[in-house]
Amino acid sequence: MADTPRDQWKSKLGFILAASGSAIGLGNIVFFSANAYKYGAGAFYVPYLIALFLLGIPVMIMELGIGHRAQRAYPEAMYRIGGIKGEWIGWFGLLNASVITMYYITILGWVLGMWIGAFGSLWEPQAVPAFDLPSGTLSNSMSYFFDMISKFETVAYVVIVWILNAAIVWSGTKSIERAVKVFVPLMWIFMIVLIFRGITLPDGPQGIMLLFTPDFEVMKDFEVWQGAFSQIFFTLSLGFGIMATYASYLPKKSDQSSNALTISFMNCAFEYIAGLAIFAILFAFAIVPKASTLSMTFFVLPEGIGSFPVGVQLFGIMFFTLLLTAGLTSSVSLVEALAAGVIDKFNLPRKTVVLIVSAIGVIGSVMFALPMVIDPGLAGNGTLGLTLLDFFDHWAFSYGLLICGLLECLLVGWVLGPEKLRESINPHAKIKVGPIFDWMIKVVIPAVILVILGFSIKNEMSGDGLYGGTTETGTMQNLHVLVLAGWLVFTILGAMALTAAGGFRRRSDAGGDSDV
Ligand code: ALA
Repeated sequence: MADTPRDQWKSKLGFILAASGSAIGLGNIVFFSANAYKYGAGAFYVPYLIALFLLGIPVMIMELGIGHRAQRAYPEAMYRIGGIKGEWIGWFGLLNASVITMYYITILGWVLGMWIGAFGSLWEPQAVPAFDLPSGTLSNSMSYFFDMISKFETVAYVVIVWILNAAIVWSGTKSIERAVKVFVPLMWIFMIVLIFRGITLPDGPQGIMLLFTPDFEVMKDFEVWQGAFSQIFFTLSLGFGIMATYASYLPKKSDQSSNALTISFMNCAFEYIAGLAIFAILFAFAIVPKASTLSMTFFVLPEGIGSFPVGVQLFGIMFFTLLLTAGLTSSVSLVEALAAGVIDKFNLPRKTVVLIVSAIGVIGSVMFALPMVIDPGLAGNGTLGLTLLDFFDHWAFSYGLLICGLLECLLVGWVLGPEKLRESINPHAKIKVGPIFDWMIKVVIPAVILVILGFSIKNEMSGDGLYGGTTETGTMQNLHVLVLAGWLVFTILGAMALTAAGGFRRRSDAGGDSDV
């Protein structure tokens, strides 16, 4: 049977908005600033920029190239490079990404709950009966958040976000393009408004200065580098199979090196200006955030906005709308990458696949949102005690994405040969990809990722992992081991099962060839 005719972006603008919308997400607005704060603000920029040029841009070119040359979704594109080994890597990447999708959408469900609160009750003190906390014990946003997550209504928020995702990927590139044409400009506008608000606050500009003051001492700490490299993968949506999938919907004659540069720079520019706004707000109100990305999203910034002299409600609604639109254009790309993999593999109708993927996804996301998995102890570790989410995030984010990137580089580097990828990119590229790319993919990037993973595992062994080895005892430790085992089984064995299912290989034995 012939390959299914491929969906295609209607315009280059549609693709750029979709791909940059995928890259720009919660990672840019809050995770970056939380990491930058944790690793010493100005100290973080140097490793971050090194990670961008050393790893981010070459891997972006590679991932766009992989999808574009095969014109198929990620697992099949990888199969065409390395046979079943390649396909396994493709499914491993997508399954790891689906773990992230599940909790990413849970977080977006909470954002939706906060957005509703921003119209009123988020700004007032309240009790948290489920945690036995009287009104006034926590800051307003903190008490609103904990009260919200201790109730079953969050499950409804999570389901609503899944319905929005399913609706946007329902007709493939057509419906995605329609959504990103509204959401992406909207989030840029809201971000720019927030920067102006941030820098016009008394003392706001001093917060920005903090971002530009490098601290070379901190850079001796390996953790800063690990943070920067994981952040680059996550923020550019690399190691998820997304960029390969989105590029597979591009016409043959499109320019992947300029696409890679445009997406990477748009993403990092957004991240940078988000950092300006956030640091200005933090400094203006002398707020010291805990080193947790979720606390930045749900307490610290709302606390800052709650202290604005005027327009608290308006800016609050704007901030959570910004998070929702940016988060949705990212979660949509995660859902699309997985759906496209299944559609191409099993030749199933898109709408059936979207429904199946969403139904399974809802179950996963709801698991993270159930009030009983929320730890009411608020363990004093800066992680909100949201243990299940933290544990999965630890493995899927800090390890899964880098492992997928490493395997991808090894496959392209040593099985396909990066020069073959260049040969398919360069004829249509204004900026030609030079031979240095080959050595980056073959040696430099794998070596860097291996060093980072090696150090992370060493830290893990010495009990210095997720919570710095201090609070993870007893039940927590058992839960963590269980999550690790679950993640390994799901990604490794799941990828084996999906690879073993015949699918496209029975239809069109297109595989194994390195010259598609
Ligand atoms: N790249 C997406 C983000 O930054 C996943 O949120």
